[in-house]
Amino acid sequence: MQLIMALTSSWKLILAATVVMLGMWTSQSTARTLPNASMVLEKHENWMAQFGRAYKDDAEKAMRFKIFKENVEYIESFNEAGAKLPYKLAINKFADLTNEEFKTSRNGFKMGSHPKPSYKVSSFKYANVIAVPASMDWRMKGAVTAVKNQGQCGTCWAFSVVATIEAINQIKTGQLLSLSEQQLVDCDDKEHGCEGGFKNNAFEFIVQNGGITTETNYPYVRFKGICDTMKASEVAVQITGYEVVPANNETALLQAVANQPVSVSIDSSSLDSQFYSSGVLTGGCGTNVDHEVAVVGYGTTTDGIKYWLVKNSWGQNWGEDGYFRIQRDVPQIGGLCGIATTASYPTMII
Ligand SMILES: *[C@@H]1O[C@H](CO)[C@@H](O)[C@H](O)[C@H]1NC(C)=O
Ligand SMILES: *[C@@H]1O[C@H](CO)[C@@H](O)[C@H](O)[C@H]1NC(C)=O
Repeated sequence: MQLIMALTSSWKLILAATVVMLGMWTSQSTARTLPNASMVLEKHENWMAQFGRAYKDDAEKAMRFKIFKENVEYIESFNEAGAKLPYKLAINKFADLTNEEFKTSRNGFKMGSHPKPSYKVSSFKYANVIAVPASMDWRMKGAVTAVKNQGQCGTCWAFSVVATIEAINQIKTGQLLSLSEQQLVDCDDKEHGCEGGFKNNAFEFIVQNGGITTETNYPYVRFKGICDTMKASEVAVQITGYEVVPANNETALLQAVANQPVSVSIDSSSLDSQFYSSGVLTGGCGTNVDHEVAVVGYGTTTDGIKYWLVKNSWGQNWGEDGYFRIQRDVPQIGGLCGIATTASYPTMII
């Protein structure tokens, strides 16, 4: 008994010592990977210069530096730990924003009350499409305008809808026209301007308005103003309605995207979306969609990873020149980041 007790306690000692040593070892190895504080300060200064960021006082700077440092740590540890993942994160213009600030100011999907359209939404016309190309990039077909920037304003819904109308117009008429998000922001009162909106309502608004005007005529100003009915009446493109892609069906989404760019909703609330820089996003998101974008193509990487090519509205200096790629054909219901949950596209007859 005594012997056992003695053995047990010495065991405990050995165990405790091992734990302490292990702890020291791990804390040393994490310390090595953590960025050096003065280097991070310098990084923050350089970053401020690069993105023209100024803070009103030292207190704000200190507060923003703390967030910046935490983000840098997240990004660096992600890229080390996830070295084998097919996507990378990077410090970008959102680096001094908390994830909470980022989510509330740059996304903008709001289902809200979704009134039934006052006209009959026709059924999914691509259901019987059999032959689809192995890959598609509507940019190469001249159907996609340059990536735009919604700014600190939850108008993703307007950008998503405008992108797919610009595309169908180019496909049908051969003419690529940049169209007005601001008209939707100001005039579509079913949506909530910078506080969010829902693409299907916006499609319906455009039908009821008799069309949409150009970006040049009614340019984007990053806030909701009073509807300029004169400008809004100078219609450049008309749509006849929109159709909904069967929910949670990536095969159906493929049938649609093979024929025209499609507006989708995604969950882009995570740090992985905030700091995505390149590659195919294969995780780091759920399916609680909070952002609307446009799928403008699809393909497969040389490593065999299937992806959707997505046009975002966070400017050209985010992600892959303003785009990102999201993994396609995943077992998860709704697709990765919920990309197949509420897809829809405008219809046009000419
Ligand atoms: C951090 O980096 C700076 C500049 O490279 C160097 O002068 C300093 O000694 C480093 N500090 C630590 C704790 O490694
Ligand atoms: C997905 O949609 C296609 C038509 O586009 C249909 O043939 C297929 O049955 C659907 N799959 C499921 C699982 O509902």
